[in-house]
Amino acid sequence: MSILPRQGDGKITVPELLQRKDLAADSPNQKKITCLTAYDYPTARLMDEAGVDVVLVGDSVGMVMLGYDSTLPLTLDEALHHTKAVRRGVRRALLVADMPYGSYHGDLNESLRNAMRFVKEAGAEAVKIEGGERRLELISRLTEAEIPVMGHVGLTPQSVNALGGYRVQGKSPAAAEQVLRDARSVEAAGAFAIVLEAMPRELAAEITRSVRIPTIGIGAGPECDGQVLVLHDMLGLTFEEPPKFARRYANLGEVISQAVHQYCEDVQSGRFPTDAESYHTPASVKNRKAIAIAR
Ligand code: KIV
Repeated sequence: MSILPRQGDGKITVPELLQRKDLAADSPNQKKITCLTAYDYPTARLMDEAGVDVVLVGDSVGMVMLGYDSTLPLTLDEALHHTKAVRRGVRRALLVADMPYGSYHGDLNESLRNAMRFVKEAGAEAVKIEGGERRLELISRLTEAEIPVMGHVGLTPQSVNALGGYRVQGKSPAAAEQVLRDARSVEAAGAFAIVLEAMPRELAAEITRSVRIPTIGIGAGPECDGQVLVLHDMLGLTFEEPPKFARRYANLGEVISQAVHQYCEDVQSGRFPTDAESYHTPASVKNRKAIAIAR
């Protein structure tokens, strides 16, 4: 199932996001790009109807929905399954699917086939892959095959073992130079946007100025062309302390917990269900029964 863009119906498309970058940052018409992660039909539908520009089926689904302790175990089939559910809830936003670890790290042809599955089977309009310079060839192959690619540089959670943990990237001059090179490579290879994760805002601002594609920041300061957050962080549905950049807009964890406590109490005390919440035997059936008993 896919939603085909039609001009003028408000559908967010890759060319439209690129055009936003063309508008000078100080132009009154320049609109920041809003992006959030979604992993299921109801939240995807709610955020699409609330007007978010880009819905990302992040591989964070592995941690926040499936309970893995990193994004590494997520399988291609699991990622496809969640992308299909999100597709059914999204009409206006651009739908981007994160390729899971291992689905694009080997043979280029196999990586291309895996990316195509997100488009053909799950209805994604673009895929996201982590890594900079070392993904040049892959990004070119995917874009040649008409698959728009969102890059992702800085802290790339799929590299957690290689990086030795989840750390802010680009803090030394040499490290900053590498992140800048990564971002430029991703652009040169044909990506239409880049996620900049966990880096000094000054570096993210420099990258944003030096590339012609939109940057979407997460823990990368306000100068990026757009922002992305993990939905469960912003809604208070995670169990660990969220990172400092993840502003909490609601505490749904508490709301759910309170509702479940209340339900249990009501069942135990007999306050649920009430007569109004029960079905009743029709009077005609009751009368027939009474007659039968009387006989
Ligand atoms: O998987 C994810 O949620 C992401 C965002 C943090 C950008 O990659």
